[in-house]
Amino acid sequence: MEVTSLYREPPREQERATAAVEFLDVFRIYRSGPAETVALRGLDLRIEAGEFVAVLGPSGSGKSTFLSLAAGLEQPSAGEVRVFGQPLDRLDEAGLAAFRARRIAIIFQSENLLPLLTARENVATAVRLGHRPNARSLATTALGTVDLAPRVTHRPAQLSGGEQQRVAVAAALARDASLVLADEPTGELDLQNERRILDELRRLRDELGSTVVTVTHSPRLASTADRVIEIRDGRAA
Ligand SMILES: Nc1ncnc2c1ncn2[C@@H]1O[C@H](COP(=O)(O)OP(=O)(O)O)[C@@H](O)[C@H]1O
Ligand SMILES: [Mg+2]
Repeated sequence: MEVTSLYREPPREQERATAAVEFLDVFRIYRSGPAETVALRGLDLRIEAGEFVAVLGPSGSGKSTFLSLAAGLEQPSAGEVRVFGQPLDRLDEAGLAAFRARRIAIIFQSENLLPLLTARENVATAVRLGHRPNARSLATTALGTVDLAPRVTHRPAQLSGGEQQRVAVAAALARDASLVLADEPTGELDLQNERRILDELRRLRDELGSTVVTVTHSPRLASTADRVIEIRDGRAA
């Protein structure tokens, strides 16, 4: 499958010269009829390449909206979002999809996995979308890394919530994603599984050089991070 776009993937050394994620005075306003919700109101932040950042903040403060904009899944109402120096609003739909598929791994609470595919097919599909070869064997290895070797042929409905999150982490590992965006990845996990996810996120940063940005309520996860960014009422606190 050939994706047509002007986007070219730079080498990772070049990536390091620019910030991984920059938000410049970003607003996101949700409108439904006359009602308006300002989810982000002038969010400014900069995350360096290779950083492991925890994002904290009260419920409703705009954390998930921030991740969604960083992933290019939605557009700001005002302001600019840049990922590895690329202003996302300069990419068309195809360019954005290619950018995401090649560089960004998303570990969100919902919409992580394709329900009809097995764990291995889910991971392999993510690898193929990023145009990397050996998708199936990479998927098998990554699932083994997160201790899901006995579950490779299970579909999401046959996996627990924690196991599904680990499949998403395996996909991030297998894809060697430059930027990993995680929304409360340890939210519903017991201590042992939380540790496992933490170890894998750290591995992504330490061994693969990925930039990891994770929203969390977990003090343990936050204390593991290089830096904590707090979002309050749609702004960096
Ligand atoms: N699609 C949407 N439509 C309308 N309002 C939304 C939508 N997504 C989020 N919001 C609102 O934006 C605010 C921030 O939401 P969110 O980013 O999910 O916060 P958090 O992840 O910090 O809990 C909340 O008031 C939420 O209700
Ligand atoms: Mg949220």
